[in-house]
Amino acid sequence: VKPALYQVERIVHMEQVRRHILNCMDCPLCERAKSRVPGTGNTSTPLMIVGEGPGEDEENWGLPLVGISGSLLTLILGKAGIGREQIYMTNVVKCRVTDDKGKNRTPMREETLECGKYLRRELDIIRPRVVLALGKVALQFFFPDMKTMSQFRGNIYEYEGTKVVPTWHPAYVVRQRGDALTKAKKEVWNDLKVAIECAK
Ligand code: URA
Repeated sequence: VKPALYQVERIVHMEQVRRHILNCMDCPLCERAKSRVPGTGNTSTPLMIVGEGPGEDEENWGLPLVGISGSLLTLILGKAGIGREQIYMTNVVKCRVTDDKGKNRTPMREETLECGKYLRRELDIIRPRVVLALGKVALQFFFPDMKTMSQFRGNIYEYEGTKVVPTWHPAYVVRQRGDALTKAKKEVWNDLKVAIECAK
């Protein structure tokens, strides 16, 4: 087990990672994307939130989880008494992933493997007690064999000493209507509470 970094070291190392991300030209996604979106927040947090990748809003702002999905997540966090600045938020991929028509698409495994080197560095620097993994792409970064969220959420997993709590991606939640929406929101809330307990 590697020793944990001191707080100042964490800030310095994360700034180096941020600069690498901002200047990254390592894969074809970089050519199409307007900007890179590094993680943001508290590098001394026990709770890290990992999403899939930036959407259009995130690409424009250069910040993760600031669009519709991020707003829902921010609201749910607020309900639990947690401000965004208290924790660290990031994505598996740091560029917006689009198809030929410029529409968002799910990153492919090779893309998450290539860009995942940055998430591995972020995890290494922060060494969170727990990660809340938003959606299938985030879950599969940790556990490639976990193919569906419905099968695996509701449990706590372990990845290199960090607990991983899977939950619905907020973009999936906001697409639900009626009872399904209420249910999905409640499940994200429950998963967040589990993650908060793991972070203590
Ligand atoms: N915005 C992000 O930053 N990540 C997601 O996974 C979705 C939207």
